[in-house]
Amino acid sequence: MSDVVLAVHDLEAGYEPGVPIVRGASITVNKGEIVVVLGPNGAGKSSLIKAVAGLVPISRGTVLLDGRDITSAPAHTMVRLGLAFVPQTENVFALMSVEDNLKVACGILKPREIPARIGEMYAAFPDLERQRKTAAGNLSGGQRQMLAVARALIVRPKVLVLDEPSAGLSPKFVAMVFEMLSAIRRSGVTILLVEQNAKAALAIGDRAYVLVEGKDRHEGAAAELWNDPVVAELYLGQRPKSDGKAISSGKGSAA
Ligand SMILES: Nc1ncnc2c1ncn2[C@@H]1O[C@H](COP(=O)(O)OP(=O)(O)O)[C@@H](O)[C@H]1O
Ligand SMILES: [Mg+2]
Repeated sequence: MSDVVLAVHDLEAGYEPGVPIVRGASITVNKGEIVVVLGPNGAGKSSLIKAVAGLVPISRGTVLLDGRDITSAPAHTMVRLGLAFVPQTENVFALMSVEDNLKVACGILKPREIPARIGEMYAAFPDLERQRKTAAGNLSGGQRQMLAVARALIVRPKVLVLDEPSAGLSPKFVAMVFEMLSAIRRSGVTILLVEQNAKAALAIGDRAYVLVEGKDRHEGAAAELWNDPVVAELYLGQRPKSDGKAISSGKGSAA
């Protein structure tokens, strides 16, 4: 039996009473997996993971983390419960140094453990050590995402939940972010990833869901989903080739 870390069942959530944005979404993340959530703009991907993280009111359904019911647990308790959420924007303190950003993320660690844990983050992300005195707002976009991820990882979460970490980055930094996520998974961290960048996300993902109108419409192995011409055509903005392999509507091949 697989080891389920995060189980979202039939979740309904929204910003106003009676106006659900997430409409019965179910998602499972097993230990050690990267699970990707794709879907068109406005499908409710951000709302779904924000609801999971306690940031959007839930009106139905359950969220279990390691078997424990965390449905509607307040956002500020999530880190202690083992869920670390990296929002799409404003995920670092721009005026604080890199090191202070890491320090203030250590809230649930024992004080005497903190210097060594920051050292471990620097070992994993040498760019951050080189820029430890730099204000986070002066980092490159890619390094800022690296800092946001390091801040989430520093407390050893059971699951790392990320909202479009590659959004707005130049291609070089997009590649860096996906390589970083692969490396984090190799170190044993379980990841739930919302992405617009379907090709890159499916390349590092194990399984993926396609969310449409607040509901999971398709689920499958990441590699299969990329090659599913219906999914490609309808939801990923890609055109299928005659051999059934999806190609990007721009240049390049999906292989
Ligand atoms: N803070 C908010 N208040 C009210 N409606 C919102 C808010 N954030 C998002 N929505 C609405 O929820 C729907 C889904 O948005 P979102 O979850 O951001 O989708 P996605 O991340 O898939 O692009 C959209 O119609 C959007 O307008
Ligand atoms: Mg979004």
